[in-house]
Amino acid sequence: MRKITKAVFPVAGMGSRFLPATKASPKEMMPVVDKPLIQYAVEEAVAAGITDMVFITGRNKRAIEDHFDKAYEIESELEARGKHELLRLVQQTVPEHINCIYIRQAEPLGLGHAVLCAAPVVGDEPFAVLLADDLIDADPPALRQMVEAYERQECSLLGVQNVPPADTGAYGIVSTEPGPGGLQNITAIVEKPAPEKAPSNLAVIGRYVLTPRIFHHLRRVQAGAGGEIQLTDAIAALIAEETVLAFPFHGIRYDCGSKLGYLKATIAFGRKHPEVGKDFTEYLASLNVGGRA
Ligand code: G1P
Repeated sequence: MRKITKAVFPVAGMGSRFLPATKASPKEMMPVVDKPLIQYAVEEAVAAGITDMVFITGRNKRAIEDHFDKAYEIESELEARGKHELLRLVQQTVPEHINCIYIRQAEPLGLGHAVLCAAPVVGDEPFAVLLADDLIDADPPALRQMVEAYERQECSLLGVQNVPPADTGAYGIVSTEPGPGGLQNITAIVEKPAPEKAPSNLAVIGRYVLTPRIFHHLRRVQAGAGGEIQLTDAIAALIAEETVLAFPFHGIRYDCGSKLGYLKATIAFGRKHPEVGKDFTEYLASLNVGGRA
């Protein structure tokens, strides 16, 4: 069995739902309390044993590269002022054994195309895909749960959760039947079906473990929903020849691609933040909106 050492982070999207905040800076750099979304995703990958982080970037995404780079000026300034705790935080953005690799996606041709851009780096190995918009609060972290399941099942797995039936048009939706290890086999997958056309309300959330065979299918799929090359369509072709399992990870998922989901995440992470959590919880309670930690 090949160990999963590489994770792909498609970060070339425009972030139009958060304009004007995303006019000059990437949506993946939006902070939840004090950490950008992309750092939560990278930390989740690190916790799953991944060592090579492959970012598929585009125009206006320089801030992501800078974030995971050494920040000489800030570090020497903090050092000079004796701010050791902050210095440690800045230096720990990525642990030392982690490699960050950046690939530019020249045109926004869709999630499937973004993943295909990683093929030269990923090669002939299974790999993970994380969509930083989907912030998942879980212990153990969601991707780690999936990598452990991969080690038992040795096949592709998609993170899934039930969504309200009215919301199917925002997700890849799967049909399943009982499969190995108490998991479900995916028998069909369709991208963003209208509720009346959806085969179920079991939705793909932005965590995938994929075998390299997916690249073969990504090279062949035609532009699908929204004129983009869809990862979902390549997965639909993959299930005709390999087992692909639905993995209902344990944890709370926040859709930080939407304003409401982002605000919910901010409240949840704010409440348990080591520095401000207690005061913030008291503040929420004083507003009479419920202050449970
Ligand atoms: C993408 C995928 C979709 C998946 C979703 C999860 O859609 O295309 O299949 O369900 O991520 O967040 P997007 O949210 O980028 O439109």
